[in-house]
Amino acid sequence: MISIKELLHVSTQRLREVTDIPHKEAMILLCEVLGKEMSWLVAHGDDCVDVDEAFWEKLERRSSHEPLEYILGHATFYGKVFDVDARVLIPRPETEILVDKVVELAHELSHPHIVEIGCGSGIVSIMLSLMLPEATVSAVDISKNALHVSEHNANKHGVRERINFIEGSYLQGVKGHIDMIVSNPPYIANDTSLAIGLSYEPSLALYGGHRGDEMLCHIIDLFIETNARILVCEMGYDQRESLHVYAHSKGLTPFFYTDLAGLDRGFWIRREA
Ligand SMILES: C[S@@+](CC[C@H](N)C(=O)[O-])C[C@H]1O[C@@H](n2cnc3c(N)ncnc32)[C@H](O)[C@@H]1O
Repeated sequence: MISIKELLHVSTQRLREVTDIPHKEAMILLCEVLGKEMSWLVAHGDDCVDVDEAFWEKLERRSSHEPLEYILGHATFYGKVFDVDARVLIPRPETEILVDKVVELAHELSHPHIVEIGCGSGIVSIMLSLMLPEATVSAVDISKNALHVSEHNANKHGVRERINFIEGSYLQGVKGHIDMIVSNPPYIANDTSLAIGLSYEPSLALYGGHRGDEMLCHIIDLFIETNARILVCEMGYDQRESLHVYAHSKGLTPFFYTDLAGLDRGFWIRREA
């Protein structure tokens, strides 16, 4: 038996090299294993507990830089909990801005058919279904494994019947006229060496080609081909110039948005009807 305070002290030391918030992460892991709230841990610091192997195993995984979300099996996005594992990218807070932008622009359209390219864990398509009840949403991913996760999350949030999940590349398998295309595609250049935590995430979700913006350029081409009205994409902080040039070479005017850190993070293109 060991007191909660001591246990947290030992665990915090183990996580110091891995995260800027070692004490908080140690508390999160302990809460998970004990099935308690943070406030309970704080109030019972002097209590002695007998943690089983599950706690040390999770601590070991986190000390090896595995992302906390994979260890817990869930992540929060837009205030909702989504199940995640190594088959999908972990939701990033900046992707909430992509959802906001789509919702804002979708109001210009009546009963839009929105297609997401690369749905991963399903966070974007699921939030769009919840926030835009008049929209029809199709969610495509090339990874069958990722689709298992997104369909599970759609079930969990009660919108499974409202989203057409499609295994395919880009728009392969999508039926009917498309009004909006949305994507947070892989956009890291293939030769980029990743921080150790990122190496746990699927490479299919990270690498976008030799330059990194190849998938984004191809999505712009598909936007033109399909005659969709609006395109909204997330992108890398350093891809504004190349995407601006590419869109203009196709006769389109992109508008860019920034993330909470003030970095360029995405763009939208609107075509008149
Ligand atoms: C960066 S992740 C985004 C996942 C999720 N939409 C999000 O925002 O967290 C990109 C996703 O695109 C998928 N993907 C990669 N290449 C694709 C392709 N050619 N067609 C469709 N999906 C693709 C990957 O499997 C991955 O799930």
